[in-house]
Amino acid sequence: MNRREFINKTSALAAASSIIPSIVLSNKQPANKVRLGFIGVGLRGQNHIEQALYRDDVEINAICDIDQKSIDATLAIFKEKGRKVPAIYKNGERDFENMVKRDDLDGIVISTPWEWHVPMAIVSMKAGKYTAVEVSATVKLQESWDLVDTFEKTGSHCMILENVCYRRDVMAVLNMVRQNMFGDLLHTQCGYQHDLREVKFNDGKKAYGGGVEFGKNAYSEARWRTQHSVDRNGDLYPTHGLGPVAEMLNINRGNQFLYLTSIATKSMGLHNYIVKNGGENHPNAKVNFKCGDIVTTNIKCANGETIMISHDTNVPRPYSLGFRVQGTNGLWMNDGNHIYLEGISKKPHTWDDFKEYQEKYDHPLWKKHAQNAENAGHGGIDFFVLRAFIESIKNKVAPPIDVYDAAAWSAISPLSEESIAKGSAPIQIPDFTRGKWKTNKPIFALGDDY
Ligand SMILES: NC(=O)c1ccc[n+]([C@@H]2O[C@H](COP(=O)([O-])OP(=O)(O)OC[C@H]3O[C@@H](n4cnc5c(N)ncnc54)[C@H](O)[C@@H]3O)[C@@H](O)[C@H]2O)c1
Repeated sequence: MNRREFINKTSALAAASSIIPSIVLSNKQPANKVRLGFIGVGLRGQNHIEQALYRDDVEINAICDIDQKSIDATLAIFKEKGRKVPAIYKNGERDFENMVKRDDLDGIVISTPWEWHVPMAIVSMKAGKYTAVEVSATVKLQESWDLVDTFEKTGSHCMILENVCYRRDVMAVLNMVRQNMFGDLLHTQCGYQHDLREVKFNDGKKAYGGGVEFGKNAYSEARWRTQHSVDRNGDLYPTHGLGPVAEMLNINRGNQFLYLTSIATKSMGLHNYIVKNGGENHPNAKVNFKCGDIVTTNIKCANGETIMISHDTNVPRPYSLGFRVQGTNGLWMNDGNHIYLEGISKKPHTWDDFKEYQEKYDHPLWKKHAQNAENAGHGGIDFFVLRAFIESIKNKVAPPIDVYDAAAWSAISPLSEESIAKGSAPIQIPDFTRGKWKTNKPIFALGDDY
């Protein structure tokens, strides 16, 4: 069943129960143009704007930020592309409330610091806008419920912009999982393993950050992200790894996260980096970082599978999301990019190179749109994730990664903090679908559509 057939069928089913909001049931013709507004036009917001401006079916009518440098850099993108200058909202931290009231906006893209995601998404959904929110969607557990409750009350959709779900190798593996090539899935591994100690920037007048500084002396993410490592001990950024494997495991749609346990190492990486690069007398050398350098979380799923997530951002290491997807018939590992499938691999007990499988099992979405993804960041995935949001608005349907995904994937962060604080105690993971996971069917990347 392709996505459109699926949505038509679920729409018919839902008509009587009114569980699916009216927006999903709309039979209107697809809109020709999608009118977007952006809250937060720092580095990530600018990436999205650049992507959106490649499309002739998108009009950007408003942007909002509290930082003049971010606004100036964004306006330079409009100028370079010869596009109409948007209305600017820069009048304080809550000016976004004014922007979302505009009636010339169909969708809002939120790329602000994590703690702003939910307050902004809720105001945007209440204003009746399709809402896209960057990762992680939520910081506190209650915020995940707030997102779900707002969707269920307003019918306004909220998509988490988890771009890694669209990674080409990940999607080929998803395709293979759906063809049962791994057998029954048993175990997946994933994580965010990215040395983030050095966030450096030089605007021609001054060098910012360099990893030693954070808060107001720093640049971009270091202005707000590092503070989370001071205040919190848990997996601060679970969704890049978890989103893709949750799609493979049909979480919220036939399967569910049940409980987790998390464990953290001691914290040394950020302090050592500051001493090495800023000196023992640098004021930040006195800061106590709460977040363990490596946080490991294990999740048990309702259908019996386990997921291991690693958060590892404060010590030297090459980048890797560390995927491993393992079933009763074999496994794929992203480190080394190899695969072993019993009865299919060339030799018993011996890895095959995944490259040989990539082309054969390339996902239909990638096959159809690879050329258009060429200009996009992170190897093309940024094109796909924004496209999915835009196409959902155009066709007036639910996005393929929805509010329940945003809630469940992001909730792993506060729940991992709770587990660590309780000596790695098992913590129940709420069912944000309130039981609907038992009958919900998969919606992500069912064909070559979204
Ligand atoms: N999916 C990905 O690959 C990816 C990559 C990078 C960042 N991100 C996510 O994107 C988000 C933004 O990250 P970034 O790197 O662009 O950070 P950034 O600090 O460069 O940008 C954030 C922007 O939000 C603005 N802002 C803060 N409070 C605001 C408010 N109340 N109203 C309006 N604007 C406000 C800031 O002034 C800044 O310009 C984060 O959630 C981050 O995790 C995702």
